[in-house]
Amino acid sequence: MTSVKKAAVLGAGLMGHGIAQVSAQVAGYEVSLLDIEQEYVDRGMSLIRESLAKFVTKGALTRADAEKVVSRIHPTTDLKTAVQGSQLVIEAATEDPKLKVHLYKRIDEYLDPGAVLASNTSSISITLLGSATKVPESVVGMHFFNPPQLMPLIEIIRGAKTSDRTVAVAREVAAAMKKETVLCKKDSPGFIVNRILVPALNEATLLVNEGVADPEDIDKAIALGLNWPMGPLRLLDYVGLDTTLNISEVLMAELQDGKYRPSPLLRQMVRAGWLGRKSGKGFYDWGSASSTKPKA
Ligand code: 3HC
Repeated sequence: MTSVKKAAVLGAGLMGHGIAQVSAQVAGYEVSLLDIEQEYVDRGMSLIRESLAKFVTKGALTRADAEKVVSRIHPTTDLKTAVQGSQLVIEAATEDPKLKVHLYKRIDEYLDPGAVLASNTSSISITLLGSATKVPESVVGMHFFNPPQLMPLIEIIRGAKTSDRTVAVAREVAAAMKKETVLCKKDSPGFIVNRILVPALNEATLLVNEGVADPEDIDKAIALGLNWPMGPLRLLDYVGLDTTLNISEVLMAELQDGKYRPSPLLRQMVRAGWLGRKSGKGFYDWGSASSTKPKA
């Protein structure tokens, strides 16, 4: 229907690099990977190489195929180069509504007719982002989960003006990436997963704040009692405390219910720069940004 051949991924951070990798590795697209500074793009490319090396080590990919994946990803810091000629643009920029609205206005200048503009936002309104462009019918949410290379789900979110064709393209792209999808029929804050997850993560920080249990025991309780792959505080470190705080603030502002209010501890840790795995420290000490386990 669309035959996406070239995709642009805007943002080479925690999510963007993984989305670019899946686009090139699984869907076989040519991918432009954009960030605002060369050092961010370089870091994204080195995270992609580290991830590909893991697939090679476990025999899921040959070294030659890993090299082909890298050759399909074209790093750039120029928005026009990234967006023009792409049938699909996936935006994975910082979770700041003002910054995203500004970016969408700029993307709109270069977007090819018929191209689909998907946002990986975890909580910002797709309708708001669509309204920053002249083609709100082509704007859709495609919310990936961290790490995109391994997590099997994409939430597809329909904005108020998103067309059926755009939703169909998003489904087609997800299928090419070998991901399962769920459809959020309404553009509601936090969509499905974060509406449930973020209050749970916040509640875990309240338990720490109240001295009810140590982080290790809270995580052990939920990992073993609910069979989560990792407990909520380790997951918070993994997702990023700043990202979680941003989502909490959007939920709180949009849904106007005190149950979404971020805890004082979460705010304080973000102020201190303890953002989790990406900053080396959160509720745990982490070695590198690519490690999935905290240091013992
Ligand atoms: N690329 C490629 N392979 C990777 C990888 C990566 N980035 N990260 C890990 N792997 C591989 C490892 O090599 C390992 O392979 P093996 O089993 O063949 O040895 C395997 O994955 C497992 O890795 P680890 O043993 O290092 O770590 P875990 O067993 O803990 O698994 C995990 C990693 C799959 C990430 C698991 O910890 C997990 O499921 N965690 C929960 C993740 C989660 O809940 N994500 C959602 C967060 S919410 C979100 O993203 C929404 C946002 O909007 C906030």
